[in-house]
Amino acid sequence: MTKERLLLTGSKGQLGRTFTAFFAGSGLTNVYEIQEVDIEELDFTDRNSILSALSFYNPSTIVNCGAYTAVDHAEENEKLARKINDDAVAIMADWSRKEKSRLIHISTDFVFDGRKRKPYLPDDVTNPLGVYGKTKLAGEGYVLNRSGGVGVVIRSSWLYSEFCSNFVKTMLALMGNKKEIKVVNDQVGSPTSTHSLVRLLFSVIDNKLASGIFHWCDGAAITWYDFAVEIQKQAFDIGVLRSKIPIRAINTSAYPTLAKRPPYSVLDRKQTLNQFGIEVVGWREELRRVIGELARAG
Ligand SMILES: NC(=O)c1ccc[n+]([C@@H]2O[C@H](COP(=O)([O-])OP(=O)(O)OC[C@H]3O[C@@H](n4cnc5c(N)ncnc54)[C@H](OP(=O)(O)O)[C@@H]3O)[C@@H](O)[C@H]2O)c1
Repeated sequence: MTKERLLLTGSKGQLGRTFTAFFAGSGLTNVYEIQEVDIEELDFTDRNSILSALSFYNPSTIVNCGAYTAVDHAEENEKLARKINDDAVAIMADWSRKEKSRLIHISTDFVFDGRKRKPYLPDDVTNPLGVYGKTKLAGEGYVLNRSGGVGVVIRSSWLYSEFCSNFVKTMLALMGNKKEIKVVNDQVGSPTSTHSLVRLLFSVIDNKLASGIFHWCDGAAITWYDFAVEIQKQAFDIGVLRSKIPIRAINTSAYPTLAKRPPYSVLDRKQTLNQFGIEVVGWREELRRVIGELARAG
């Protein structure tokens, strides 16, 4: 039987790497042959590169994990962020509609302004505070409105993994080197392991009729400070850290950044859980798994 082609963009990013690492063990290999691409094979800033890669691979499904993810740098590089998060997605969406391909796209909690203070539902009003969120929101619009009615947007938040750089790895490095650290305690969100997001992605790929917006996170409603405390606790318990250091809670105003971040960005995942029969693991358990992977890697 000829397999369908699944094109994974951003394959060298943390989500892309997790996807690649677990794809072979998923039932999807019976149906799909995976093609992994990153900037070398498909450069989001170059229309010709996108179109020629798409016609070369000719995928029945595109999983778009590529993005401009540097939230603060985006404030000074709006043109580039737009090209990658917005224009490139429009090109992919138009191609998908023409070729009857399914576009599955990852987006972010940063499309919200954080004023709701209750978990955000997929159809809640968006109002991004910065360039990154604005460009990601524009990308969502193309997937939903121009990819032929079969597009999927999965919004997730505070992603971390054993791959690339992310909050967990930054905290562990600081906790190993500093005498104390200060962490913001007035932004509330939900950390999400790329492992749980990849499990959802596999279910979405398998459920070919699913379309629209889905929210995904690991179910916590905590601050970066709370998350740092749990990271240190778990890392110490399994010996990744030899000692603990004081973690001081600070306000966002004491840690100025170029981009404004939503003070509250917990995503409500109930509708997603209802639609896909996926295994739910608690956020601490997800963290334990990633810290375990980091411990194994030394
Ligand atoms: N990280 C988070 O906390 C978070 C939270 C919510 C949603 N998301 C979304 O989740 C998705 C995956 O994020 P991630 O954390 O895996 O991001 P990531 O690690 O930064 O991965 C993004 C990938 O896209 C690649 N890329 C950048 N510019 C490109 C270009 N011009 N052409 C082709 N590829 C390019 C990157 O390459 P380089 O590394 O060489 O730039 C990288 O391999 C993104 O859509 C992101 O917006 C992330």
